[in-house]
Amino acid sequence: MSTSPEPTATAPKLTQPDIPDAAPGPEAQAASASQNQAVYLRDYTPPAYRIDTVDLYVDLHEDHALITGKLTIQPADASSRADLWLHGEALELVSASLNGERLSEDDFRIDENGMLVSYRDDMAQAFEFETVSRIRPQDNTRLEGLYRSKNLFCTQCEAEGFRRITWFLDRPDVMATYRCTIEADRDKYPVLLSNGNLVSEENVDGNRHRAVWEDPFRKPSYLFALVAGTLDRVEDSFTTMSGRNIDLHIYVDPGNAGKCRHALDSLKKAMKWDEERYGREYDLDLFNIVAVDDFNMGAMENKSLNIFNSSCVLADPASASDATFDRVESIVAHEYFHNWSGNRVTCRDWFQLSLKEGFTVYRDACFSADMHSPVVNRIEHVRFLRTAQFAEDAGPMAHAVRPESYMEISNFYTLTIYEKGAEVVRMIHLLLGDELFRRGSDLYFERFDGQAVTTEDFVACMEEVSERDLTQFKLWYSQAGTPGVKIKDRYDAKTGEYQLSIRQHIPDTPGQTNKKPMHFPFCIGLVSEDGKDFDTNVDSASTAAASFREGHGLMIELRQKEETVIFKGIPHKPVISLNRGFSAPVRVEYEYDTTELLHLMQYDSDGFNRWNAGQILALGLFDRVLGRASAGDSEGGGVVEIDEADKGFLQEYSSALKQYLKPGSISSQDPAFCALLLQLPDFSAWIERLPQVDIQLALSCYEQATLEICKQLEQAASQCYDELASHPNIADREAGAELRALRNTCLAILSRLPEHAERAWQQFETAQLMTDQLAGFRALLRYPRSQSNRPEQAIAAFEKQWQNDGLVMDNWFALQAASREYGTLADIKRLSEHRLFSRFNPNKLRSLFTTFAAQNWACFHDPKGDSYRFIRETIAELDQTNPQIASRMTTPLTRWRKYSEPYSSLLRAELEALANPEGETEISKDLYEIVYKSLQEANKTD
Ligand code: TRP
Ligand code: ZN
Repeated sequence: MSTSPEPTATAPKLTQPDIPDAAPGPEAQAASASQNQAVYLRDYTPPAYRIDTVDLYVDLHEDHALITGKLTIQPADASSRADLWLHGEALELVSASLNGERLSEDDFRIDENGMLVSYRDDMAQAFEFETVSRIRPQDNTRLEGLYRSKNLFCTQCEAEGFRRITWFLDRPDVMATYRCTIEADRDKYPVLLSNGNLVSEENVDGNRHRAVWEDPFRKPSYLFALVAGTLDRVEDSFTTMSGRNIDLHIYVDPGNAGKCRHALDSLKKAMKWDEERYGREYDLDLFNIVAVDDFNMGAMENKSLNIFNSSCVLADPASASDATFDRVESIVAHEYFHNWSGNRVTCRDWFQLSLKEGFTVYRDACFSADMHSPVVNRIEHVRFLRTAQFAEDAGPMAHAVRPESYMEISNFYTLTIYEKGAEVVRMIHLLLGDELFRRGSDLYFERFDGQAVTTEDFVACMEEVSERDLTQFKLWYSQAGTPGVKIKDRYDAKTGEYQLSIRQHIPDTPGQTNKKPMHFPFCIGLVSEDGKDFDTNVDSASTAAASFREGHGLMIELRQKEETVIFKGIPHKPVISLNRGFSAPVRVEYEYDTTELLHLMQYDSDGFNRWNAGQILALGLFDRVLGRASAGDSEGGGVVEIDEADKGFLQEYSSALKQYLKPGSISSQDPAFCALLLQLPDFSAWIERLPQVDIQLALSCYEQATLEICKQLEQAASQCYDELASHPNIADREAGAELRALRNTCLAILSRLPEHAERAWQQFETAQLMTDQLAGFRALLRYPRSQSNRPEQAIAAFEKQWQNDGLVMDNWFALQAASREYGTLADIKRLSEHRLFSRFNPNKLRSLFTTFAAQNWACFHDPKGDSYRFIRETIAELDQTNPQIASRMTTPLTRWRKYSEPYSSLLRAELEALANPEGETEISKDLYEIVYKSLQEANKTD
């Protein structure tokens, strides 16, 4: 259809990362932290020195901060006579002393990664090491270490930010108790916070004051935090299961105190839930949350002083959508749960990151499921996992849940570590059952309290309580890639025997080939003609073990490359329901026909698979339309059309969907579940499954197919939409959320059709809740200017109404950036110059640029390559100020191999341009790793 330009391949100036072959001593450790060097799990050695106590004095000024760090240190082995390595980056050393004696230049060596103090005899026992250094928080645009967010001083130390505050052995297996004194101007910074308990507060000369905080729990440096500024405080309290009273404080910018209620309620629910489900009680008398506007991620679990992106704390019905309310609830819970899964028991090294993140995501997902609808929650998680994590696992950054190596650890806060890691813990829970899983987690928390441990240690506890061998299961931690599970079945009407042949296959990923079969729970059900599950009588000739799991049906434990499961006494051919509840994070391949899928969609006792059947039906249609269009392509056609056979399919499929649009069914079914059934797979969820994509052709097919489905649903959706308007709960923030999910899904269906712009405008204009306003806005932005001037009116009205609320305006930027009509490259450029946009605020950068690159398929993947170039230039520029953000923004470019020409070559050329910056410009380690890995020769995948 389109002519492809010659690939503009110039060999990138990238060098193979050096592989340190011996276990590194302190100097090699220093070297391994430098540019373009990888760190390997196999090189792990315990630190040569322990740091037992930290006494920090932080003296804050407008143009600098003076940090005095007093450490008590002792050698792990008194006879080792090792030099002392301390990390330190972007620190200006004022002085250093050992046991009170000032060190001279000859006593230590400094490079850009830290300092190496030469061994001397008084380092054979405990000694005191003190440094004074100067840093410049006001110039810290990386938002790692101590930085300014507007008028606030705050910190972000995970993973390696503490070394930008003071000299330290900045690795999680060095655990110390901290005392922190903060001194600052009394008027500008009345609130001074750090971890633990407030010990004293006093005024000092020159209109300054200081506060002393002490944290009695030993912790790794990444959990250190401090905050200084003018903040409003909202208070509540919680009584723990043992009757202790905990003060709960949320600190926000003045004026935002009214938006903290939901976060506080969520925190109390999470505290209670962790007591009930895991027996975990909070351990200090105070728990603080601080909201800051400039933050690289969602939130951070610093001991007793959680720091949050304000977008994950603040919520009120007028300005926050239902999705925001849910996000606040789950992130508040997530960070709180880290107090045990992460803080009390922490990671030995960063290869173990999923030990805390996978487990904590699993915990927060179960919490949210308990607070709302379990099936809705599960579907939403899986939808996300299958779209984004599967894509990561199939791309150049694919890595195991416990990676073998990294260049920059910030790049490994990934969907694999978080989401797949959570699935792994979930599988352990499923394999063990509720009771043993709880005993395993109790043992883990008790045995390793106060220690820095590994995923092996976690699994060992599970093995111990269950007396099971999880050796094979642990391949989930070491093997990357999404397993495929291919199923064939055979029914013998004479014998009543039904046989399943199950074959698993784990694809090659960069650096990993010829993988071993995995062990996992695979839940299934045999659905009869009348829609009920057959009693499953598993024949002993089966190769895999099977047992029942409450709420999951029959759990088969797969272990071998090929397994056979035989059922006896099945009176007619069943419809097989596979991987119920998404019991394992795998791709299931089985040839269903339409009738079988419609049957599952209607009857499956597993709600997840009812939804999934509907998704498979839609995906099949997309595939067929694309198949024909691609075939037409070779004859110069590329015609995208619905044929006669599809029309029959559309009839059947849409009448199945219409059941979820019947107002009568709303009382009998969860409307949020209905909404999910009615939502067609995202474009990105579809193409993730395809081997190679011509983006614009696939997009046309997708648009055409979804349009046809929406046409079929128009009448029913319109009626459902109108009837829901008069539901008594529709405008109730909490009780109405599910109803609004369904009603706004109706609006989304209607907004694919030309006649409904006025309806969207009506909703947009009259909405009392942000959910409805945004849904109206999103719907309007589908209409081209030629069809309606309402979208442009809405863009202006929204800006006028919300210009003073930065978080709401993030949505304004993001919805335009995702729109094919109002998010063209010219629009993006114009919006990036908007007075409310900021190149230093991660939320704004994500809203505009990341949304454009990751979600606006039509405009970003312009076959001329202009959008690619613009995003590349933006990334290169941001790399100079905030490498973490620049590196994350690069993800959509790294998928170049998946696309056909011209997209593929054009994207690759931009990656090469990033790798070879002009002139003196240096590329960050963060960006280097992503670019380098995505340009490397891919492994052959079969
Ligand atoms: N530990 C944080 C979380 O759970 C993640 C995080 C917050 C983070 N800020 C960061 C990671 C900055 C790297 C860099 O969920
Ligand atoms: Zn976390």
